[in-house]
Amino acid sequence: MAAREPAVLIPEEKIRSRVAELGRRISQDYAEVEEVLLVGVLRGCYIFLADLSRRLTVPRRIDFIALASYGTTGTVPGAVRLIMDLRTDIAGKHVLIVEDIVDTGDTLQYLLGTLHARGPASLKTCALLRKPDRLRTDVRIDYLGFDIPDVWVVGYGLDYGDRNRALPYIGVVETGG
Ligand code: IMP
Ligand code: MG
Repeated sequence: MAAREPAVLIPEEKIRSRVAELGRRISQDYAEVEEVLLVGVLRGCYIFLADLSRRLTVPRRIDFIALASYGTTGTVPGAVRLIMDLRTDIAGKHVLIVEDIVDTGDTLQYLLGTLHARGPASLKTCALLRKPDRLRTDVRIDYLGFDIPDVWVVGYGLDYGDRNRALPYIGVVETGG
């Protein structure tokens, strides 16, 4: 059976203009700091981070961290695990976490706790997407792209069972769950 194309939820052009807007706001807010360290949360952030970082007009560095809260095939939540740590010592640095999507909020909450303990000069969060109906912690998102309904989305870096990451738009897949 051939897989159906994911239905468009957020078209490419809408993503582009929103990412540009986030880039402008972040650049304004960090205009006075020496440098911002963008911490991308792998793997879903990679396209968003690539586009966002190129919209910034302030000095920035990039590092990555990998966490997992879901298996590679399912959509059932589990414990958050640290899979790959940062290379950078973030003590005294201005850190901006860049996430693809905030679902329950567990991952971002865990990350805020872990990175806060390392003594950054500042620590903020940026997420392309948020599912307000699914949130179970009141996690702070300083820069948000879009609120979306409780559906499973793919594309622009996001996956379902590691598929559909390279779609240029945000689409909805049926997870049968
Ligand atoms: P949270 O810890 O429940 O907030 O889950 C966050 C992580 O789950 C995200 O960073 C994604 O990797 C994954 N995730 C949650 N919802 C979706 C979705 O709709 N599509 C793709 N990945 C998702
Ligand atoms: Mg993620």
